[in-house]
Amino acid sequence: MTSGTWSPQPALPTQAPSAEPAIEVTGLTKVYGAPDASSGWRKWFGAKRPGPVGANAVAKKAAADDVSFTVEQGEFFVIMGLSGSGKSTVLRMLNRLVEPTAGRLVIDGRDVAAMNPDDLRGLRNRKINMVFQHFALFPHFTVRENAAYALQVRQVPVAERHERADWALETVGLGDWGDSLPGELSGGMRQRVGLARALASDADILLMDEPFSALDPLIRRDMQDLLMTLQRDLKRTVVFVTHDLNEAMRMGDRIMIMRDGRVVQLGTAQEILKTPADEYVSEFIADVDRTRVLTAGDIMQEPVAGSVGDDHQRVRDDAALSDIFSLAGRSSVPLAVTGPGGQLLGVIPQATLLAALATPVREKPGREQPLREKPVREKPVREKPVRENGKEAHA
Ligand SMILES: Nc1ncnc2c1ncn2[C@@H]1O[C@H](COP(=O)(O)OP(=O)(O)O)[C@@H](O)[C@H]1O
Ligand SMILES: [Mg+2]
Repeated sequence: MTSGTWSPQPALPTQAPSAEPAIEVTGLTKVYGAPDASSGWRKWFGAKRPGPVGANAVAKKAAADDVSFTVEQGEFFVIMGLSGSGKSTVLRMLNRLVEPTAGRLVIDGRDVAAMNPDDLRGLRNRKINMVFQHFALFPHFTVRENAAYALQVRQVPVAERHERADWALETVGLGDWGDSLPGELSGGMRQRVGLARALASDADILLMDEPFSALDPLIRRDMQDLLMTLQRDLKRTVVFVTHDLNEAMRMGDRIMIMRDGRVVQLGTAQEILKTPADEYVSEFIADVDRTRVLTAGDIMQEPVAGSVGDDHQRVRDDAALSDIFSLAGRSSVPLAVTGPGGQLLGVIPQATLLAALATPVREKPGREQPLREKPVREKPVREKPVRENGKEAHA
């Protein structure tokens, strides 16, 4: 067997050094069962959002409605929303597992709608890897063979694919388990095999649909940490779907919040916490542990010249609020916030720290404004492979 010396491959040959976005989505719309959804890409190429088509179509609601966003190379982009808000639909349109009804999709500068079947196969097999909540490991394959599955599909020679699988297994901490069968592993370990499969595939875009939702909290946190480390070190672009806002805020560089197929807000965790787009988002973020998301730099105020002396406790601008409470409690003067070089950036009076804990509530307009329903916590739903046009979703 191989020595597992496969080195991490941060950049793919196809990855341009330019700052070209990894994914650009404009007006992407999906109406399930709409006549032009199942009749091939030529129909939606450059199409505008469709009007009602035929008597049946009038009542059909868009599962994804005029969705636009851009994902930068190497970004960790999260799509967040309640069950049924259209997250999976948007994710699956990114590799055309679900055919868009309208809109435009550009990956690495290439219009995906205009791709011929060969190009599309290349995109699905090499460029993008999709990871599902249930990784669908093959019980009769060894862990190594499971990790190498995407490469097997691509007909990579066996020695090479096992070498890469071993590297990936090593990377996720399962270096000794290559010869085992999935049944011999715990649930958390099986999830790592799924992650190893995605890494071994070498795809530079990972699409992940609630991959950790079925895990219990401790394993889940481990997996989140592992994924964040891998993503940073290996410079993959990740589009990650979750219904858990805490998970979204913990992991995402930016978060796109969806409701009823539409984007209600897109921004960093800090932006969303500080300026929720509407009452719906406000209610959503009420449950978030703000002290772990907001940093000293997010809430600091301008220092008054000469006002900060040696008696001020100093904290770094990137320190989470949860880490500075005890310091603040020990002193009656404001905390001094410093940058990487130790330079003074701002101050945090105790009152500012307390105020940062409150959820900003948008002004309620008038009484005539209809009240929105309160978001309800989603129960994990078992994911079934989607069949569309005879294509089956496989991890
Ligand atoms: N294959 C399908 N056929 C018809 N409707 C679908 C299909 N998949 C999803 N939907 C509907 O589209 C909407 C969005 O679903 P989905 O994208 O799965 O949301 P989420 O992933 O946020 O739970 C829901 O109303 C759902 O019932
Ligand atoms: Mg879903």
